[in-house]
Amino acid sequence: MAYLLGIDLGTSGTKTVLYDETGKPLASHTVEYPLYQPRNGWAEQHPLDWWNAVCETTAAVISKSVIDPTEIAGVGISGQMHGLVMLDGGGNVLRPSIIWCDQRTGAECDEMTEIIGAEKLMDITANPALTGFTASKILWVRNNEPEIYDKCRHILLPKDYIRFMLTGEFATDVSDASGMQLLDVRNRCWSDEVIGLLKIDRSMLAKVYESPDITGKISASAAKVTGLAEGTLVVGGAGDNAAAAVGTGTVRDGKAFTTIGSSGVIFAHTSNPIIDKKGRIHTFCCAVPGAWHVMGVTQGAGLSLKWFRDTLCHAEIETSIHMGVDPYQLLDKAAERLPIGAENLLYLPYLMGERTPHCDPNARGVFFGLSPLHTKAHMLRALMEGVSYSLRDCLEVIMEVKLAPREMLVCGGGGRSPLWRQMLADVYGLPVSTITSGEGPALGVAILAGVAAKIFKTVEEGCDAIISTSSPQNPNSEDTAEYMRYYKFYTSLYPALKDNFKALAGL
Ligand code: XUL
Repeated sequence: MAYLLGIDLGTSGTKTVLYDETGKPLASHTVEYPLYQPRNGWAEQHPLDWWNAVCETTAAVISKSVIDPTEIAGVGISGQMHGLVMLDGGGNVLRPSIIWCDQRTGAECDEMTEIIGAEKLMDITANPALTGFTASKILWVRNNEPEIYDKCRHILLPKDYIRFMLTGEFATDVSDASGMQLLDVRNRCWSDEVIGLLKIDRSMLAKVYESPDITGKISASAAKVTGLAEGTLVVGGAGDNAAAAVGTGTVRDGKAFTTIGSSGVIFAHTSNPIIDKKGRIHTFCCAVPGAWHVMGVTQGAGLSLKWFRDTLCHAEIETSIHMGVDPYQLLDKAAERLPIGAENLLYLPYLMGERTPHCDPNARGVFFGLSPLHTKAHMLRALMEGVSYSLRDCLEVIMEVKLAPREMLVCGGGGRSPLWRQMLADVYGLPVSTITSGEGPALGVAILAGVAAKIFKTVEEGCDAIISTSSPQNPNSEDTAEYMRYYKFYTSLYPALKDNFKALAGL
């Protein structure tokens, strides 16, 4: 029996899972780390926190499973996308990583659009200039910290920094590289034109691979600190969403999934690089060689819930510790007891600006309609509904570009909540199911490693062999109609507040 290791470098923590070749999880371990917010709208993490979490989780799953590390046929890495890691010539980290939800780069997005032209940028990178993406973060460091930029010799994405620490190689994969906004997304290679116009030294960028390609092997020094065997192969892997697509079997046309992790994502597979000309959703290469996906992103999905829990739910956290349950389970139960619409309370989940479809770094979170009858449970229900409406906004665009799914898989922390799953089924008006076979991104990159190790011939074959799904939760048409009354009202709030968000940012 061969084994496969999947590492998922998330925003709240790193989860590493060891699978056997049938996809059965043998051991799993998670280590959390902090998110730093030095200013309103900024978000940074320390790459060494990620690396320490990878070492600790990998060593833990190997020792828990009592297998011989030489039996691990391959390692796959998935991770939060878009984060900027800058290294000097000696491979040392030059500054904390500016991560995906950071919103400081509005001026640099304008600079990019002016230099390249909005149309050419859309045509080559398949997306408009976005604060979340990596290119504008690179320009921000060049404009604001020139002494750091001058020392920079290597630019990597979060999971690719882990690859460098594991193998010594500077490499990335097409799905994650799509989110840097320096890739020619149709042709799946760096765009010399975009890189040249932005005057970025191409030698700083990593070599681009397809996701199931072998990119390097575990080095002797990494073997010592992780417990992995020297020489174990490491595949390209994928950005967390493209990895979750593989881990949920979303690898053919007509398939789609939603994940609620820190961000909320709705993802549809496509064998053609379909681009929304208005730039309201992203088009990226996916982890299946020769295929793409369109994707909508709510910046503050699970992030909203985590903020709510950590800021307002200390009593519930205490109770959950005494009861030995997850605090989210208690919060879920409280929200479940309330009617749709939370007695006229709405929430806009724009804590960290919003990506799709509004593309607005100035947007911020809103509870709308608060009255003295509202309790914490109402706020929680409104929060879950607001995240679901924001994902529905993205589904509307996906339907417009003719990639409407007939059913939806749900994964991520939010996908574990039966209430949230039913809410998504009702708000989308689609049957919703979950995977029964494990965690989306970690399983996805383990399958990619299985392709490289020749356990599976193709990514699709790996998914067919491993992924199984629960029976679907169907939408309830009466509840859908009720949610749609509130959704319609929800969609009127952002346009009404857009100018106020801008004015607030300028105060
Ligand atoms: C996708 C995105 C997030 C991060 C963090 O574009 O920014 O989903 O990958 O999970």
